[in-house]
Amino acid sequence: LPLMAAVGFLSYLIGSIPFGLVLTALSGGGDIRKIGSGNIGATNVLRTGNKKLAAGTLALDGTKGAFAVFCAFVLCPFHTEAAEALAAACAVAGHCFPVWLKFRGGKGVATGLGAMIALSPAIGLCCCAMWLIFARATRISSAGALVAFATLPLVMIWPGHVPFSSPLYLAGVLIAALIIARHHTNITRIFRGTEPRIGQARTTGR
Ligand code: G3P
Repeated sequence: LPLMAAVGFLSYLIGSIPFGLVLTALSGGGDIRKIGSGNIGATNVLRTGNKKLAAGTLALDGTKGAFAVFCAFVLCPFHTEAAEALAAACAVAGHCFPVWLKFRGGKGVATGLGAMIALSPAIGLCCCAMWLIFARATRISSAGALVAFATLPLVMIWPGHVPFSSPLYLAGVLIAALIIARHHTNITRIFRGTEPRIGQARTTGR
């Protein structure tokens, strides 16, 4: 149990590194929290106009989710599935509630995708594909993320064949629920028709 707690805490710390904030500040773009939606994720970094920075944020936020799962795999050779599932959920929680930013973090999409790919490449890549397809079709990044994670529990059952009682299923449901909850303002804007499309700047509203 202490080992599991350590895996959870380590994963939280890995997830809590705000790459979008760090990369934007390092590139001289200022505080990403004062731009666009105020979010620290890749979608908002794209609103600075720097595509490479947005791609870097997406890649690093995704990698930290996968890296947390990898650390659990290395540290817990006896309870690997449970430890990996815990690591995935804690990494996403770390991104959403980082201690460094007074627990005001991001929405967990890239970290959730990276963690899900590490837990189950087929299911994670399916989730990625859903995000890309729906973000492209609607030109709204949050809409893609919402469809991808709202359908994740179903995708895990079919065609994923993941048992309900497995740690993998629990992690997927928790990650999906957290990501959807973190998008509550996006959901409101989508229904009001005011959610900005990709490539369109926005000045207010987190
Ligand atoms: O990655 C988060 C995305 O789904 C929404 O970001 O900045 O439009 O609130 P944003």
